[in-house]
Amino acid sequence: MGEGVLTVASPPTGGAGILLAEAGLERRGASLLVAGVRLTEIAERAGTPVYVYNLAVIRQRYAALDAALAGVPHRICFAIKANANLGVLRALARLGAGADIVSGGELARALAAGFPPDRVVFSGVGKSDAELTAAVEAGVGHVHLESAAELAALAAIVERRNRPLRVGIRVNPDVTAETHPYIATGRGGIKFGVPLDQVLPLALEVGRHRRLTLDTLAMHIGSQLLDPRPYREGVERLLDLAAALRAAGVATLEGLDIGGGLGIRYREEAPLAPAALMEAVLPQIRASGLALLLEPGRYLVGSAGMLLTQVLSRKHSGGKDLVIVDAGMNDLVRPSHYQAYHEIVELEARGGAPVPVDVVGPVCETGDFLALDRALPPLERGDRLAVLGAGAYGFVMSSNYNSRPRAAEVIVDRGRWWVARDRESIEDLYRGEHPDPESAEAL
Ligand code: LLP
Repeated sequence: MGEGVLTVASPPTGGAGILLAEAGLERRGASLLVAGVRLTEIAERAGTPVYVYNLAVIRQRYAALDAALAGVPHRICFAIKANANLGVLRALARLGAGADIVSGGELARALAAGFPPDRVVFSGVGKSDAELTAAVEAGVGHVHLESAAELAALAAIVERRNRPLRVGIRVNPDVTAETHPYIATGRGGIKFGVPLDQVLPLALEVGRHRRLTLDTLAMHIGSQLLDPRPYREGVERLLDLAAALRAAGVATLEGLDIGGGLGIRYREEAPLAPAALMEAVLPQIRASGLALLLEPGRYLVGSAGMLLTQVLSRKHSGGKDLVIVDAGMNDLVRPSHYQAYHEIVELEARGGAPVPVDVVGPVCETGDFLALDRALPPLERGDRLAVLGAGAYGFVMSSNYNSRPRAAEVIVDRGRWWVARDRESIEDLYRGEHPDPESAEAL
């Protein structure tokens, strides 16, 4: 097959085929299309690297989760940390989702996107006075407490402002979840949540503040979980605690927040289906009479997003083939930070026998890679690739390392696409810097 000749690709098979379908992608001839739009067109007009999100997939995921929860009063609060693009947030707000936030910045985004404040849950392991104040002033639905010190700070703020507030306690249920150690959050000895033996004293302390009502017990045990077992164990511990709290006179509990964590398919793993999760936890929760809150991030947006990149060059070194592309670890850090696997496919299939290559970025670190030892067809400067499964913890974790402007973000919806966030400009890179004392504001 001659170079540059477009070939008719065979229909997708196996793992990659499922991944394409889950992203709402299809091959027509050689070209990869998302919701009827050629990705090459987006890459040409918006440039690379660029993130592309398919709203249809997000809506479909939200509907599937909502349907699985139908048997119990519930609310789905999207974890904004997974994807904070205003267009993505607005679509979720319109579906009726709430928002799970962990910072003042995420609060501002939630409000700008149109989430009603009472549907916002403020989690987060460390919250400053300024952030707590902003949350109280905005009228957020819940603040999930992480410590007695935080309770004291929050109580002073609501007292001063004369505002009632519903709170939850984020419990560390001490369960082990199988996932990357950096994203397992439910064990003892880590920073998240209130240890089991300290929950009752904290709950009683909440009761001493007349403007605060403790109505939720919460947990978040980890991310990219594929097994419902730790959820069941965690829920059992939360329900034991709820019973102990009630026995001690806490009569205000209304809900259980079981966090996020639903794992998706990046390669060949079996994702954690909402129905399987619900089968594990719903009977106990229903029996308790409590409402169910969920804070999914990755499940709603992970498969809906991809990162488009362009090949810059190719090298053969030390017996290895290396493909250097224009997206690096500053754009998508998951491969180098968690050794995460992201499927990579060509935007225009050119054919040719796949050979194993490392796909690496332009950043000056040996750890800057998107894929290692990956079988890909022959690639040359100018060829474009899509890195799949990049809708969650992609752009939000990007940085300006090596003074690289952050990528643009594109949304595709109902046959239309638009740049939902401009690519950063070179001027953006040093906005707010004061190289001389004369140009700095005196403090
Ligand atoms: N709720 C809380 C309190 C959380 O800390 C998190 C995620 C979520 C909900 C949403 O979890 P999800 O449904 O997305 O698993 N950067 C890592 C993931 C870090 C997750 C942190 N917490 C990654 O790229 O895999």
